[in-house]
Amino acid sequence: MSSVLVLNGPNLGRLGSREPDVYGSQDLDSLRRLLETDAAGQLSIDLRQTNDEAELVSWLYEAVDTATPVILNPAAFTHYSYALRDAAALVTKAGVPLIEVHISNPHARETFRHTSVISGIATGVIAGFGFGSYRLALASLLWH
Ligand code: DQA
Repeated sequence: MSSVLVLNGPNLGRLGSREPDVYGSQDLDSLRRLLETDAAGQLSIDLRQTNDEAELVSWLYEAVDTATPVILNPAAFTHYSYALRDAAALVTKAGVPLIEVHISNPHARETFRHTSVISGIATGVIAGFGFGSYRLALASLLWH
């Protein structure tokens, strides 16, 4: 079965207890289960989280080398990591979809969150729907 990489950046390992008013009270295990149910055996869900920019970059290389589509929540790296942007560009330039997702709507929050250095090279961007942002991204991959 083909897989999808669901990559999560810094502090998303604390979902469940981190600012539940913004991010909800469910954790990444719940997200994995939700996506596995949605994928219904059509795609396998490879969900990972790291606080380490270098690790995230290496996972994007893996996506290029294995032509695996990516759902990426870059978390705070969204707003300033040119290294992550350049690695994400390798994915989409290779013709592999990479969908940027956010649980919250960064545009409705602090000004520093209004900039994404990732969006310009992403296949698409979905934000503001809670875990629904990931589910919509997965749905778009399942249409193809
Ligand atoms: C986030 C939004 C970012 O601004 C923030 O730094 C995160 C999570 C989101 O999913 O809403 O860590 O990417």
